[in-house]
Amino acid sequence: MLMNIDPIKALLEYASYASVSTDPSYQLGLEKARNFVVDQLTKIGFNIELVETPLHPLILASRVKNPAWPHIMFYAHYDVQPADPFELWKSKPFEPEVRDGYIYGRGVTDNKGPFIVQLTALSQVLQKNPDIPLNLTFLIEGEEEIGSPSFPAFLETYKERLQQADVLIISDTTSPNAQQIVITTSLRGIIGMDIEVTGPKCDLHSGLYGGPIYNPLQALCEICASLHHPDGRVNVPGFYDTVSLPEEWERHELKKYPINEKDLQSFLNIPSFHSPQGYTPLESIRFAPTLEFNGIGGGYQGQGAKTIIPSKAFAKITCRLVSNQDPDDIRKKVTQTIENRAPKGVHVKITQHDGGEPYLIIPPHKSNSPKPYPKILQQVFDTTEKSITEIFGTPPIYLREGGSIPIIGKIKKTTGLDSILIGLALSTDNMHAPNESFSLQMMEKGIKLYQKILEDFAINFSARY
Ligand code: BES
Ligand code: MN
Repeated sequence: MLMNIDPIKALLEYASYASVSTDPSYQLGLEKARNFVVDQLTKIGFNIELVETPLHPLILASRVKNPAWPHIMFYAHYDVQPADPFELWKSKPFEPEVRDGYIYGRGVTDNKGPFIVQLTALSQVLQKNPDIPLNLTFLIEGEEEIGSPSFPAFLETYKERLQQADVLIISDTTSPNAQQIVITTSLRGIIGMDIEVTGPKCDLHSGLYGGPIYNPLQALCEICASLHHPDGRVNVPGFYDTVSLPEEWERHELKKYPINEKDLQSFLNIPSFHSPQGYTPLESIRFAPTLEFNGIGGGYQGQGAKTIIPSKAFAKITCRLVSNQDPDDIRKKVTQTIENRAPKGVHVKITQHDGGEPYLIIPPHKSNSPKPYPKILQQVFDTTEKSITEIFGTPPIYLREGGSIPIIGKIKKTTGLDSILIGLALSTDNMHAPNESFSLQMMEKGIKLYQKILEDFAINFSARY
């Protein structure tokens, strides 16, 4: 007999395990989060395989009973972003608590809450109907927040195993509120690099040597400032060459989004937007590529003043890429541009980070492509749209997202598997920021939604079986 899962209690426990994948000192938290997932999935009858990787093992859990049944694969990640700055949290990031209808803690919305929703729904479905005609697999990785460096090798080895599934269902994207669900049709790709600019062999007295030295901080700032045009567009030759523009129906969907430009501006507390020419602010998040500085530094950062010419300066850059931009191509173009613009008086070293491909899936009923959709994919889209409409009272909006899940595009390329992305995080949930939250209303409705999707899908399937 399966045990009932209390989703709030489960999330409070899961989110208390500090599984920060980027920081080696959180090894124990990662292990505990992983063990939690393994225990939960074992309890609801899944077979577990822990796949070792050079960093954080990946969990492959399956309940595969009959090769004739449809096979749904869920993807989620058990790792989280770092919690700092700690002092800005109202309650401790790894001591999650419930306040006013939300659970607060690092990772609660990205992506632990949505996993608990899937788990709870599944456990209820299996309890009601242990023989439901669905093959189910969970693929849960621990390196998503660092760009999934171990995933390509895993994919090579497990490619055929993944190909046994018909579709991936993922809840690691956002919706505007707990009344309106977004089905995400695209994820941006990503590339990243560090620039290190080195001038003299060590920090110098700025009076003793100031004058003929190319200050590395100045050189870096000049390079960085050259990477955008004043109109907000990225100033890297060829950057926009292959960008695919949204179709008319996509702009139309965006108009249904219940958060407008003004709301967003006041939520973010910015004096004005600065979107690239040719895109409105809301359009640019979803349809345009970017080049961002994630960190920049060098020289004296302490109290008071220090009269030096620093020896080194650094910047961290990422680009979000949209459909049809090739990460390798853009990486080359950005790197080349930075090298070309480096002044002669300094050394510039560029270190590349892992990246990911953009992903785009036009839903079957919006597509005018002559290429037929796999039948199961079409049915999953249909069932999902109907279930959302019933549980949430409004049909989903189909929208591209600005965020990235680096491996989704890669899975599509390697195995042909498509993903249906159901947003359970709210765009106001403070993903990657202090006071990350997960809405309890979304949790409750999300559980009902997943139950309905799974049951309806199984019924439709067995009706034909
Ligand atoms: N859940 C996010 C992806 C996301 C964010 C989708 C916002 C939609 C809207 C995911 O966990 C994430 O944060 N991914 C990283 C990947 C990066 C570290 C390679 C991201 O987008 O920054
Ligand atoms: Mn994230």
